Amino acid sequence: MIATNFGPFASRITGTGSAFPDQRLTNLELTKKIDTTDEWIRERTGIQERRIAQAGSEADRNSSLGARAALAALEMAAKTASDIDLILYATCTPDTLIPSTACWLQKKIGATKAWALDVNAACSGFVFGLATADSFLRSGQFKTALVVGGDILTSMTNWEDRGSCILFGDGAGAAIVERTEATNPRRILSVHMGADGRHWELFHVQAGGSNMEVTAEVRAKKLDKMEMKGREMFKVAVRTLGDYAVQALESNGLALGDLDWLVPHQANLRIIEAVAKRLELPMEKVLINIDRYGNTSSATIPTALDEGVRKGLVKPGETVLLDAFGAGVTYGSILMRW
Ligand SMILES: CC(C)(COP(=O)(O)OP(=O)(O)OC[C@H]1O[C@@H](n2cnc3c(N)ncnc32)[C@H](O)[C@@H]1OP(=O)(O)O)[C@@H](O)C(=O)NCCC(=O)NCCS
Repeated sequence: MIATNFGPFASRITGTGSAFPDQRLTNLELTKKIDTTDEWIRERTGIQERRIAQAGSEADRNSSLGARAALAALEMAAKTASDIDLILYATCTPDTLIPSTACWLQKKIGATKAWALDVNAACSGFVFGLATADSFLRSGQFKTALVVGGDILTSMTNWEDRGSCILFGDGAGAAIVERTEATNPRRILSVHMGADGRHWELFHVQAGGSNMEVTAEVRAKKLDKMEMKGREMFKVAVRTLGDYAVQALESNGLALGDLDWLVPHQANLRIIEAVAKRLELPMEKVLINIDRYGNTSSATIPTALDEGVRKGLVKPGETVLLDAFGAGVTYGSILMRW
C-alpha cells in the first residue's frame, strides 16, 4: 500500500527520545548461561551487549521507559503533554493486556487530552504507528501525535535457546509527530507498508493470548516464549527490507545511493549490511545501535533515529529512510525529509 500527500496537510517528526533499562548483559555474561562465545555473537550478529529490564521494577516497565522517551521527545519538540491529541504505542509486550500500554503511558505523562491505543506489528510496530499517525495528521483531524515503540522482549525470551536469546534486549523510543503544510519540504514523503500472515510460523509465541492459557505445563515447555526460525527470518528480512527501501526511493524519483540516512530495524548487523549493499550505501550512512542494545523490537528504529539526531548526524533537509520488518510477518518503509 502506498500513501503520498494528496491534501493540504502533511506530517513531520519534530522531536525524538529514547530510554533503556540500566542493567547491561554482555556477551561474556551470556557465555556463563548458554553454550556460546563472545566471538560467535559478535561475528554472526554484531551485538556486544543488551539492556535487560528488571522484573517488578516500576522504572523498567515498558510504559515507564516509553514515558521517559516521550518526555525527551516532547522537550526536543518544545511541546508539553497537554498538546498531544493522539498516542500510538507500538508494542508486542504490553505492560498489561488490559488496559493498553498507551493508557498507562498517558497516565504517566499526563496527556489528558489525548486518546490512546496500542499497535502490534512486532518489530515493525514503530513504523506502522508512525504511518497511522501520519494518516490522521494528513487528514487534518489532529495536530500532534506521540508515537512510541517500546518492548520488553526479554520477558518472552527463551534463555535456553542459544539461537535466539543472544539477540534480544529491552528499550523504548518515541517521536512527536506534528501536522504541517503539504508544501513544507520537511515532511514525511511516502509510506509503504505490507504484511504476510502466511509466514506467521517464522517468529511467534504460542501461548499467552486467547489461543492458549499460560499453565504450569505450558511454562515448562516454554510455549509462552518466542520461537524463531532464524535462517528463514534472515532471508525474509534481507528481501523485504531491500524491496521496501527500493520502492520508497523509486516512488519519490530517487536513485540508489541518494539517501542521507538509512535507519533500519536492528535484528542482525549482517542483515543491515546486506540491505546497505543493495542500496549502494556506505555503512557510514546507516544509523546503528544493535551493538549496544541488541534487537529491541519496535524500539530499534526510534532509538537509532534519536541517537542520530542528538549526535547532530541527521541534519535539517536530509533524506531519511526508516525501514522495518518483523514477526507476522510485517514490513514497511517511511521516507522523510528531516
Ligand atoms: C539467529 C541467527 C543469528 C543465527 O545465525 P546463523 O548464521 O543463521 O546461524 P545458524 O542458525 O545457521 O547456525 C549455525 C551454527 O551455529 C550454531 N549456533 C546457533 N546459535 C549459536 C550461538 N549463540 N553460539 C554459538 N553457536 C550457535 C548453530 O547450532 C549452528 O551449528 P551447526 O552448524 O553445528 O548446526 C541469524 O539466523 C539471524 O539473525 N536471523 C534473523 C533473526 C531475526 O531477524 N529475527 C527476527 C527479527 S524481527
